[in-house]
Amino acid sequence: MSIIKNDFEKMNITKIRNSKNNKKLTVITAYDALFAKLFEEIADMILVGDSLNMSFAGREDTLSATLNQMIYHTNAVCTGAPKAFVITDMPFGTYINKDEALKNCIEVYRQTKAAAVKIEGGADKADIIKHLTTNSIAVMGHIGLMPQYVRSEGGYKVRGKTHQDEKQLIDDAIAVEKAGAFAIVVEGVMSNVAKKITEAVNIPIIGIGAGNVTDGQVLVWSDMLGFFEEFKPKFVRHYLNGADLVKEAVNQYRNDVQDSSFPSAEEEY
Ligand code: KIV
Repeated sequence: MSIIKNDFEKMNITKIRNSKNNKKLTVITAYDALFAKLFEEIADMILVGDSLNMSFAGREDTLSATLNQMIYHTNAVCTGAPKAFVITDMPFGTYINKDEALKNCIEVYRQTKAAAVKIEGGADKADIIKHLTTNSIAVMGHIGLMPQYVRSEGGYKVRGKTHQDEKQLIDDAIAVEKAGAFAIVVEGVMSNVAKKITEAVNIPIIGIGAGNVTDGQVLVWSDMLGFFEEFKPKFVRHYLNGADLVKEAVNQYRNDVQDSSFPSAEEEY
């Protein structure tokens, strides 16, 4: 018996756009078929985030993720969750100009069943996003704290603390919307500014570390399920103590092996 209330509705671009002011959107990352299947009929969208480079590959930041890795993981997610609206994060260096961006997004569309791609950048990337959307690529924007800018910015910095930055962020959101994006992730932004951004555009704003004023939320699965032990950002809520549960279970397994209580008679041929 399922413990989940099944009001699942398969999403598409129109439904996502229409959810503005109607329904809060729940977005979660996934990198493999196993977890994607668990999230499929609960989340509105699954993001194959380049955060996989950190939580899955153990790297320090997202910058060394490659297009082939994103394609590999997107295929795993789409296979595990065929009904999900899956978004592929375009990794660092794959959308440095309009032609490169279109070539690489077409590669994602050709090799996977992703419904959309995500691009980090505001007004500075508007011409690239416009080129993609006019060539039939569905684009989710990503503004505010942008992890792919970590080395050039000298760290992860909460945005929107000055009047000037607030104006920049609102201009970014408007530019990305005008370029044809169907939704925008707003990360690491003061909640009062996130509210103004949400009110400034007609497409859903999906927040992460931006308060509860946005049109939806996104979280990295391994953060919200408590598997990532090194560090817990202020904006993450742990819905499970995954790391403790796994370690307890594996420890129990080891004890059972050592005292020969596993496998039991019922577990043998
Ligand atoms: O890579 C990622 O998982 C993301 C989310 C944090 C929005 O971009």
